[in-house]
Amino acid sequence: MTESQFPDSIVIKGGKLVDAGGERSGDVRISGGQIVAVGEDLDADRVLDAGGCLVSPGLVDLHTHLREPGSEEAETIETGARAAALGGYTAVLAMPNTKPAIDSASVVKDVLELGRAALIDVQTSGAITVGRNGEQLAPMAEMADLGVHVFTDDGSGVQSDALMRRAMEYATGLGVTLAQHCEVTALSAGTAMNEGEWSTKLGLGGQPAEAEELMVMRDIALARLTGARVHFLHMSTAGSVDMIAAAKASGLPITAEAAPHHFTLTDACCATYDATFKVHPPLRTSSDVDAVKAGLASGTLDAIATDHAPHTPESKELPFDEAPPGMLGLEYALALAFTELVDGGAMTDADVLARLSWQPAAIASMAEQGRPIAVGEAANLCIVDPSVTWIIDDSGGASRSRNVPYVGRAVRGKVRHTVCAGEAVVIDGEAQG
Ligand code: DOR
Repeated sequence: MTESQFPDSIVIKGGKLVDAGGERSGDVRISGGQIVAVGEDLDADRVLDAGGCLVSPGLVDLHTHLREPGSEEAETIETGARAAALGGYTAVLAMPNTKPAIDSASVVKDVLELGRAALIDVQTSGAITVGRNGEQLAPMAEMADLGVHVFTDDGSGVQSDALMRRAMEYATGLGVTLAQHCEVTALSAGTAMNEGEWSTKLGLGGQPAEAEELMVMRDIALARLTGARVHFLHMSTAGSVDMIAAAKASGLPITAEAAPHHFTLTDACCATYDATFKVHPPLRTSSDVDAVKAGLASGTLDAIATDHAPHTPESKELPFDEAPPGMLGLEYALALAFTELVDGGAMTDADVLARLSWQPAAIASMAEQGRPIAVGEAANLCIVDPSVTWIIDDSGGASRSRNVPYVGRAVRGKVRHTVCAGEAVVIDGEAQG
């Protein structure tokens, strides 16, 4: 075959293909935004070498703080999407705790419009309540009409039982999913970290595991009452994992995610009062970390979601109890998962890719993401070399912020190329455009 037979085509050559259907070797030819051939010895105008790599459906992040509109000094849609592309993501779901909050059709439109210029597919969640103030339901229907499938007040949980019940009834009618940040503020107000041995030693206000678990328990009860589809964000405690396992076993349509920091770091990391380690929900104990890992391995936790939360260096230099919570994640999640979960013996590479790609894509109803690597499918792919080890540095990568809690950590797995909608947006680890 000659090059001219495949104008503007790309072939991903020599990788191992991994998707929901299993693993096999093969080349992938892409043209016009789609996969046009899968097989041996394929040619194209441009060859992306995938020797030694896994070729997976692109990663999908259910939980990305892009900070635009309102906090562009920390991140923009453009910079966050670039970080995501470098991390192997082809789609992210933006969280609505922007300024203003993403709580109306007009803000949804603005975010989607800005997202169209980004390297990858930027989709957005919408707020459950107006201004995320927990008092009045947001106009979910007008946002759903624009394609919003997931609603959340993330950054806060909806405190009122009655309002959450109403939100679930409304969401059921609309066929959308509610994603809860589980935190009972009556128990978390004034706290800076997990309640336990370390909060006592450090003299910092501690938040008990129950601040998360009481809301998990309530929302499971309300999901049973209303039939709503509920997704539990950033689960951090052993008790939460147990309740979700039991609720799923009883047949409720619930899903849950864990963030990389909750299977990697413990509250002992706060020992130096470095606010890089401040996050909501807080870093917990090593037995919670083990439970989160086990929950991911068993499938109780369906997805790994970054909770990528950029904050400026100035804000993270504030005293621990005054600094904002949150840490970067998009460029580290895949390598942390391979290192902590696969090398730790709990899961296979394919299990990790399931939690990072096709399972989150299904939760967010992203029809063109997480799809099998097959002819006719949209070409959204992550090509990762699982054998490369590297040391995480403090640069923050493509993010505008640098709040990286993993500095100095050796990890395995490096994204080589990312292909989004048929375009090579990362080639040999370099973002294009
Ligand atoms: O640590 C966090 N930071 N948790 C959240 O839920 C919100 C996020 C943020 O927006 O900074």
